[in-house]
Amino acid sequence: MLILAIESSCDETSAAVIRDGVVVSNVVSSQIKLHAEYGGVVPELASREHLRGLIPVTQAALREANVTAMQLDALTATRGPGLPAALMIGLKAAQAMAFTLHKPFLGIHHHEAHLYSPWISGNPPRADFENLQPNVSLIVSGGHTMLVHVERELHHRVLGSTLDDAAGECFDKVGKLMGLPYPAGPEIDRLAEQGNAKAFDFPRPMLNDKNDDFSFAGLKTSVRYFLQKNPGLLDDSQTIRDLCASVQAAIVQVLVKKTIRATQRLGLQCVTASGGVTCNRSLRKELAAACTENGFTLRVAEKTLCTDNAAMIGILAERKLLAGDAGASLDAEIEPGWPLEQATSRA
Ligand code: KG4
Ligand code: ZN
Repeated sequence: MLILAIESSCDETSAAVIRDGVVVSNVVSSQIKLHAEYGGVVPELASREHLRGLIPVTQAALREANVTAMQLDALTATRGPGLPAALMIGLKAAQAMAFTLHKPFLGIHHHEAHLYSPWISGNPPRADFENLQPNVSLIVSGGHTMLVHVERELHHRVLGSTLDDAAGECFDKVGKLMGLPYPAGPEIDRLAEQGNAKAFDFPRPMLNDKNDDFSFAGLKTSVRYFLQKNPGLLDDSQTIRDLCASVQAAIVQVLVKKTIRATQRLGLQCVTASGGVTCNRSLRKELAAACTENGFTLRVAEKTLCTDNAAMIGILAERKLLAGDAGASLDAEIEPGWPLEQATSRA
């Protein structure tokens, strides 16, 4: 089966071609530089940029895959959740192509696609659904932080999610307080490498709560008050590194502990992780160490598939079509606030 997938839910315009479980091409055009000037994603600018980038990105994906639109068997796009005007551009373009080509169309839930991105690996990347084990999946990015129990393929249940800010948002907002450029996550990761994680003791929100939810707004606020009470801290570059390491340690500890605890409680043996924050080296290292200690298998999405991309949308769409999902929702509308529970079967 040959599928063209489009992703435009936030600030990445992406198109991918999938053939029989293999990612033949995956073109991603990131808008990070455009939004950096404003310290965060500006929805209106994002949709304008998607409009500008969608056709060249789609053409590049088809060209790289060496296929023509006429050869496609199906089309797919992210239907939600995401920024309404951004989603609209990718979804309507894919539906228009499907309509013109008389091919089936399937709208995909962005987070559901993240759940399976850790199972795509290799060169060229290939989906490894044959080895999929029941797992606890951590999705952690700038817009979402959640734990999901994946019982089996296409069957999952949300265990918990953030009650306020996402972990990536926390990295970005703390970085802004420290005068770091947007997005601050990668910069904090880099600076933390030479910092002392024990230098400052920041709160670990909800670490010991008996649920799988997260909360990161309080951590950001505590950093703000700490900086206000201690003016001049940011004048010293080593102190900045120590601050980065200390904040990162707090975020990573909460993410790792809560993921491991949920996996233990459910009696599972496998953990997966995806989303932009899984690029964080400390998170990867700590999660790997905790999984080894508990005898769990860990699958973290490859770096190019951690952040938003159309390949994961196409891979999931193919599995859904093969599983009998008829698609054909040519007039389906965007779902900016689509709850994951409503897109999937319950475990
Ligand atoms: O999945 P993603 O590309 O997109 C959205 O959420 O839209 O994730 C972006 C987020 C940003 O908050 C960014 O700061 C964070 O992922 N991020 C990181 C790292 N790389 C990206 N956070 C911590 N360490 C990193 N190395
Ligand atoms: Zn995402």
